[in-house]
Amino acid sequence: MSSLLEAREVWFTYDSRNYTLRDVSLQIEEGKIYMIFGRSGAGKTTLLKILKGILKPTRGMVFFRGQPINSSETARRVYSIVGYIPQGFGIVSNVSVMDNVLVGALSRVPILHSLMGQFPREEVERAEEIIEMMGLSRFKYQKASQLSGGQRQRVAIARALMQKPKVILADEFVSQLDLLTAIEVLDVFRRLADEKGIATAITSHDIHLASRYADQVLVLKNGEFTLRKDGRSVSESELVMALR
Ligand SMILES: Nc1ncnc2c1ncn2[C@@H]1O[C@H](COP(=O)(O)OP(=O)(O)O)[C@@H](O)[C@H]1O
Ligand SMILES: [Mg+2]
Repeated sequence: MSSLLEAREVWFTYDSRNYTLRDVSLQIEEGKIYMIFGRSGAGKTTLLKILKGILKPTRGMVFFRGQPINSSETARRVYSIVGYIPQGFGIVSNVSVMDNVLVGALSRVPILHSLMGQFPREEVERAEEIIEMMGLSRFKYQKASQLSGGQRQRVAIARALMQKPKVILADEFVSQLDLLTAIEVLDVFRRLADEKGIATAITSHDIHLASRYADQVLVLKNGEFTLRKDGRSVSESELVMALR
């Protein structure tokens, strides 16, 4: 099966002296969960930004369904089907859950309408469905600042889902949560993968969650993958070894 999104032999440098990514390849397939581990500074965020198209590889290429992303048209298509949840979630604290979720529809709504808060009815209905699915209905009109960490993460997922994504990239997504909340959030990704085929790539520090959730576990060290394994067959000690 061809992958949805693929980084092939990607090298990346910010300063044209040191390479932050060195010959990194990753194939993201439909309905799979990828967990990427690595110490801070390993290059995790850089890799996600390359997959999202925020950064361009210095060498190597990103492919979408086997097609190289080399025109602004393919880049735009990919940008809209890849949901990206930055570290810290990028949600706006002083506006409501509903307004945060509607941000995910911006690529489909004329800018002037969105500025005036006039979202088409079908977008509002879609937002309501997604809010319901995320178990956030009770908080729909509350400000995001009033929510707990786990609820804010669900708002971030809901906003990404408004994009109708095929892939969600989530940076350090569950790292700040307590174990049970982290498990709840990861259960959401599992369900989205199984029911809708949405693939997820998460960078994380929570190695104890890997064997339970990851279809594939990857360890990035100094910009290179040093381990790549089926999540179900990886042990914590193996992960620690690869990280060190
Ligand atoms: N905007 C930037 N300009 C220059 N160097 C950067 C920039 N962002 C990250 N780096 C460097 O690239 C390396 C990898 O960073 P990053 O991808 O953020 O790693 P991680 O997410 O694994 O912590 C680090 O050495 C970091 O200092
Ligand atoms: Mg990072």
